[in-house]
Amino acid sequence: MDLCPLLLHFTNHKTRSQFLIGLLLGCTLYMLVAFPVYLYLGEHQTQPLCQAELIKRLQAEQTEVPTPISNPTAGPTRPPGPVHPAPFNVTNPLSGYVNVLKDREPLKLHCSVCALVSNSAQLLHHEAGTEIDKADCVIRMNDAPVFGFEKHVGTRTTVRVVSHSSVPSIKKVRYISKYSGLKVVAWGPNHTMRTDGKGGTYNLLSELAEENSKVIEVYMLTQQRMGYADKVFENETGKPRKTSGTWLSTDWFSMILATEMCDHIKVYGMSNGNNCKNPEDKSVRLHYYGGNAQKECDELKNMEKRKKGSLRLLTERKAFQLWAQYHNISFNFPIW
Ligand SMILES: *[C@@H]1O[C@H](CO)[C@@H](O)[C@H](O)[C@H]1NC(C)=O
Ligand SMILES: *[C@@H]1O[C@H](CO)[C@@H](O)[C@H](O)[C@H]1NC(C)=O
Ligand SMILES: *[C@@H]1O[C@H](CO)[C@@H](O)[C@H](O)[C@H]1NC(C)=O
Ligand SMILES: *[C@@H]1O[C@H](CO)[C@@H](O)[C@H](O)[C@H]1NC(C)=O
Repeated sequence: MDLCPLLLHFTNHKTRSQFLIGLLLGCTLYMLVAFPVYLYLGEHQTQPLCQAELIKRLQAEQTEVPTPISNPTAGPTRPPGPVHPAPFNVTNPLSGYVNVLKDREPLKLHCSVCALVSNSAQLLHHEAGTEIDKADCVIRMNDAPVFGFEKHVGTRTTVRVVSHSSVPSIKKVRYISKYSGLKVVAWGPNHTMRTDGKGGTYNLLSELAEENSKVIEVYMLTQQRMGYADKVFENETGKPRKTSGTWLSTDWFSMILATEMCDHIKVYGMSNGNNCKNPEDKSVRLHYYGGNAQKECDELKNMEKRKKGSLRLLTERKAFQLWAQYHNISFNFPIW
């Protein structure tokens, strides 16, 4: 009697781990007892057949394992209940980032460690460049430059998340074509992203994509993704985005993307307002580049007070703090 097919049959309905243990025990037994007997009887040719069957079964088992979604949803102190932000699509976290060129693939990217670099002048007070460059992927926002600031912001850019209002300045940057492999991810209100010739931002994006088609990829958020970003804001703050007079920031879209494509997110230079008590932080400018003299701490506060058409960066960052309980996110310079 051949034990092995019997064993295989018997373990059909067991769980995966029981199945494996069963296989191990059964086949050890088989080798110890049955094989010498077969050898003796000159019937050992049945053994390779059983092995082949085993391998086939094991391979079948392996292919049945569902591929995990890119985010290990366990954050450092993950509370019970649903994940924040609620995923856009559980089975396909990066759906809704479509290529601006119709014949190209949608966004596909998974990084172990991401550096998410803010635009704050806070970065000028540190030399985080080397550390930022060590990340598997570096995410930057809008038109924040690298040249001339390498010591503080690093040199690499994997993804640049860009708002509709920054698309024109991105387009003017001649050296964009030097970023071989750069992925631009652009977001904007539905009407500017219309693909029928009437969407101003979309038109610029497709020019950008065509002119640099050999070196960069340009993606944009679908309308469903735009609706989702609003819904996340409403869920996390209790306030509908539109009627609360709020514009979402590029931070918001970048952080959502980061939770979808990175296992670990290291944020650089994003203040949650707490550091504004320090006298030396009060004079920090909003941006590390450009001539805008606005002070970050003043602006963060004023934005929250404005009734209409304002960003709410501190409100958004409160949500990020919550997300850090579900995703592996750390905030550096300042730490929080
Ligand atoms: C977060 O990521 C870092 C770097 O990849 C890792 O060392 C750390 O163990 C992670 N923490 C958790 C809770 O997963
Ligand atoms: C989620 O992604 C899968 C795979 O791409 C797709 O089939 C499905 O329709 C998506 N679900 C939603 C709600 O978009
Ligand atoms: C954009 O379109 C999506 C889907 O059609 C919708 O859910 C969302 O509310 C729209 N956003 C705005 C601001 O109109
Ligand atoms: C919003 O909250 C509801 C209720 O908790 C939840 O079912 C939904 O998935 C959330 N959606 C988003 C986009 O956060």
